[in-house]
Amino acid sequence: MFPIVIEINFPSGTPAFTINGQSAVVVQDAAATAKETAKPATSDAKDATPATISAPVCLRDIEQIASMKLKKSSWDYFSSGAMDQETLQLNSEVFSRIRIRPRVLRDVSQVDLSASLFGYKFASPIGISPTAMMKLCDESGEAGVGRAAASFNQVQTLSTFTTVSLEDVASAVRSLPDYPHAKAQRIPNLWFQLYVVEDRKKAEELVRRAEKAGYSALVVTVDTPRLGRRLHNIRDPFRLPSDVKHANFEGNNSATLDNEIGQGGAVALRNNNDASLNWDRDIGWLRSITKLPLVVKGILTAEDAELAIKAGVDAIGVSNHGGRQLDSVPATLEALPEIARAVAGRVPIIFDGGVRRGTDVFKALALGANFVCVGRPSLFALTWDGEEGVRKMLDMLNEELRLAMVLAGTTKISAITMQFVRHESEYGKL
Ligand SMILES: Cc1cc2nc3c(=O)[nH]c(=O)nc-3n(C[C@H](O)[C@H](O)[C@H](O)COP(=O)(O)O)c2cc1C
Repeated sequence: MFPIVIEINFPSGTPAFTINGQSAVVVQDAAATAKETAKPATSDAKDATPATISAPVCLRDIEQIASMKLKKSSWDYFSSGAMDQETLQLNSEVFSRIRIRPRVLRDVSQVDLSASLFGYKFASPIGISPTAMMKLCDESGEAGVGRAAASFNQVQTLSTFTTVSLEDVASAVRSLPDYPHAKAQRIPNLWFQLYVVEDRKKAEELVRRAEKAGYSALVVTVDTPRLGRRLHNIRDPFRLPSDVKHANFEGNNSATLDNEIGQGGAVALRNNNDASLNWDRDIGWLRSITKLPLVVKGILTAEDAELAIKAGVDAIGVSNHGGRQLDSVPATLEALPEIARAVAGRVPIIFDGGVRRGTDVFKALALGANFVCVGRPSLFALTWDGEEGVRKMLDMLNEELRLAMVLAGTTKISAITMQFVRHESEYGKL
């Protein structure tokens, strides 16, 4: 367990709550936190509005608790973005510039959240994006998140840089009580994210291991020819504790990466990712070596979406890596409409970036996404309450989406279209 970092002055009389048997107090209003994603929660205690979170009721509450529970270096690593963090903040902010146009009297007594992708019907269009180093949050690590997602028939995309091996995550999911795919060749609830490293043999070996373990889609991340400049982590370098390992590169498998004596995946990536990656040679190559559905993650323009379709991908991942790569790129919600127009339904669109509420999911679906994923919320929920925390987080988000659908007057995911949203500027013209 990590020590609880509480460096705040809270007003006398503020009721306390308990984390791991230690008392703690949240001093910052959860709504205000929405604008402060990248700041350690301890940094502006003076301006904070006292508020207590004894039982989180939304994702921002969970984030607030995680900010207090995590070591500062882990919090900085998870929460921060590149440079001035403009894109990081924009990712969340832009959702509030979209208005939902609700329709009424449409019999919303039965709402169906299910969504199909790659031939499989999931319980919800909400999934979990790949994020590295989950054992920094809870000892169950990626296995806890995978089990939580699969138990709800939702999806976890496993990062290349996990702290539980891809095989162990697959076994943990298969061993869920009454898991319907326990013995099946493919586990629909697990996708594998690949960083194509310079040594293509190592990359191919990871693909083969993911196939063998039963992963049901391959997500290749294409926005990281080099790592973005994350100032928090440059000022205060993040190091993996000695008991936490890059589990996919340990032991006897030949896909061993230089992990720089226990430093973060960021360092391993800097030394191994291939900046020469390109459409013609590499996406074609990946397409040729696997039959798994292939997703390219990190698309922000209509031009690249077109190239991805030409290269034969099965889905497009609209993502700016949670604002951690090139600062000043658009928020993913801003990029989504041009991509949706270009794709025109030829392949599904998987979206992530800044999603923290059911209404955010609703808006992304309305603007053209088919599937909507969260990254940091899974880390924060895992920090809060392990596997159960991730289940509760997914439940909150699913229920918020259900409520948004009921109140907006629609009962099916596929019926959430552009008709339900307008940019605030259109109302400003009135
Ligand atoms: C701590 C952290 C680690 C990440 N690691 C990876 C990774 O290993 N592979 C990858 O493709 N994306 C990675 N991402 C990006 C996420 O997959 C996702 O695009 C982003 O977190 C979505 O934004 P959100 O956190 O606002 O939901 C990481 C993001 C964070 C915050």
